[in-house]
Amino acid sequence: MISQKMQDALNNQINAELYSAYLYLSMEAYLKSLNLAGFANWMRIQTQEELTHATKLYDFVNERDSRVTLTQIQGPPTEWKSPLDVLEATYKHEQMVTSRINDLVNLAIEEKDHASNTFLQWFVNEQVEEESSALDIVQKLKLIKDDASALFLIDRELGLRVFTPPAEEK
Ligand code: FEO
Repeated sequence: MISQKMQDALNNQINAELYSAYLYLSMEAYLKSLNLAGFANWMRIQTQEELTHATKLYDFVNERDSRVTLTQIQGPPTEWKSPLDVLEATYKHEQMVTSRINDLVNLAIEEKDHASNTFLQWFVNEQVEEESSALDIVQKLKLIKDDASALFLIDRELGLRVFTPPAEEK
């Protein structure tokens, strides 16, 4: 059993992860409208990852004999100015998620909830990768500026990304 405070915070995080999935699905739709199939593929995998984050939290709350309560998911934006605008928004969003995860760890420590703290460390590590992969694309897009053939090469590279379920991650 976890404390009510921890349970509420974990339930909020389930909502936040589902919002992330919704956000990335909306970004995918925008990128598809630009015919950037590789970028769209990268976003689809972001969505899949967010859904696994949500279910990982969902399963943990249940395992701790606590109650999952699902709430309304906010609608995501639907328009961006450019692929760079999308990726900058992705990077900013992931920084916000990192800060939420840090708050959850701080709460687990405050509550002397060692099991939740240990569980959340997976998310702490995951956020390092989440931020860095978005930032990597932002930096590439800034470098190429308006070079359409370079954009095509990045699109091709992003099209190679495949989804790896967490259990298979090293
Ligand atoms: Fe669930 Fe992208 O953090």
